Amino acid sequence: MIYDSLGRKIDYVRLSVTDRCNLRCTYCMPHDIVFAPKNELLSYEEMLFIMRVLQKKGIRKVRLTGGEPLARKNLMFFLRELSTYGFDEITLTTNGVLVYDYLEELKSLGINRINLSLDTLDKEKFNRVTLRDDFDKVIRALNKMLELGMEVRMNAVLMDGINDDEIESLAGFSIKNKVGVRFIEEMPFDGKSNDKSKNFIDYKSILARIEKAYPGLYKIEDAASSTSLNYKIKGSLGSVGIIPAYSRTFCSTCNRIRLTSFGELKTCLYEGGGVSIRDIIRQYPGDEEKLWETIAKAIAAKYKDGFEAEKENKLGGFKQSMSIIGG
Ligand code: GTP
Ligand code: 5AD
Ligand code: SF4
Repeated sequence: MIYDSLGRKIDYVRLSVTDRCNLRCTYCMPHDIVFAPKNELLSYEEMLFIMRVLQKKGIRKVRLTGGEPLARKNLMFFLRELSTYGFDEITLTTNGVLVYDYLEELKSLGINRINLSLDTLDKEKFNRVTLRDDFDKVIRALNKMLELGMEVRMNAVLMDGINDDEIESLAGFSIKNKVGVRFIEEMPFDGKSNDKSKNFIDYKSILARIEKAYPGLYKIEDAASSTSLNYKIKGSLGSVGIIPAYSRTFCSTCNRIRLTSFGELKTCLYEGGGVSIRDIIRQYPGDEEKLWETIAKAIAAKYKDGFEAEKENKLGGFKQSMSIIGG
């Protein structure tokens, strides 16, 4: 088992498999992004090597993120292999555009819990936010996930003046659909170092709006180390969650580390440059001990919370985009 210096058990890795994405959401990707050469990304073989070591050392859960995980070629090849490594759970965060054809196989590999990024139920608005015309594909995939009995959570990043008028209708989507609709505070990781603290809508005002629209909304239990505070509208099939991603209220139970698509290990989302695991494994190929020594040292020094990490951010500002960090 792995613990940080504050005694938090670390058993979860978020693995960003690519910095590429087929959408261009404004809060995530700079529109003029130039993607890094492929050899700067971890190869599947390198990721598998790292995952095998993490599993042996006590990591129990892997979530695949991106960019968009399915924007990387041969993702299923990677997943077939990863699913044999003995993790308790492998989950996926996807924008839903490319996933439809792979859902049965994902399910058969045990990848049954999917977080779907979908900020709006309005097709025109979807096009404006993502700069792509793929709304119908996402809805088709969402319906199939539900038909297959997968556990779906829908992530909506709340943007002032863009989709904040949909708080009530998005929450209402959970009444007839067995989906966890989750509202996320927008964070400043769009690669342009924009300060998002000015106009963002905080979790308390989101909750107040939902409570007003749905009297009788009640709290349900949150899973250990949950990012979301979860509620239910009376009589609904699904649930409603709020993620204080910018307010950072859940750091004291943080159980996660991240590996960016460039192979940087981050023990906190808000930290600047993490340690380059990629450089270590390229310098010492196959050396599990060297790799683990590096990871263990980083975990031991994990920040108390996202505020401390932000203060110590050596890059200054938030210049990395979410497509690189992986959420
Ligand atoms: P689990 O993996 O089941 O814990 O779900 P999750 O909510 O962490 O995953 P998801 O990929 O759906 O992320 C939802 C939102 O939570 C995204 O906006 C993330 O960036 C944000 N988020 C995820 N992890 C962290 C974190 O460690 N700190 C903060 N501040 N926000 C996070
Ligand atoms: N702020 C908050 N959430 C974000 N995500 C991507 N960029 C941001 C941001 N700047 C979300 C995605 C996805 C999750 C991994 O992170 O919508 O659901
Ligand atoms: Fe953990 Fe940092 Fe996220 Fe807080 S902000 S939950 S410490 S990763």
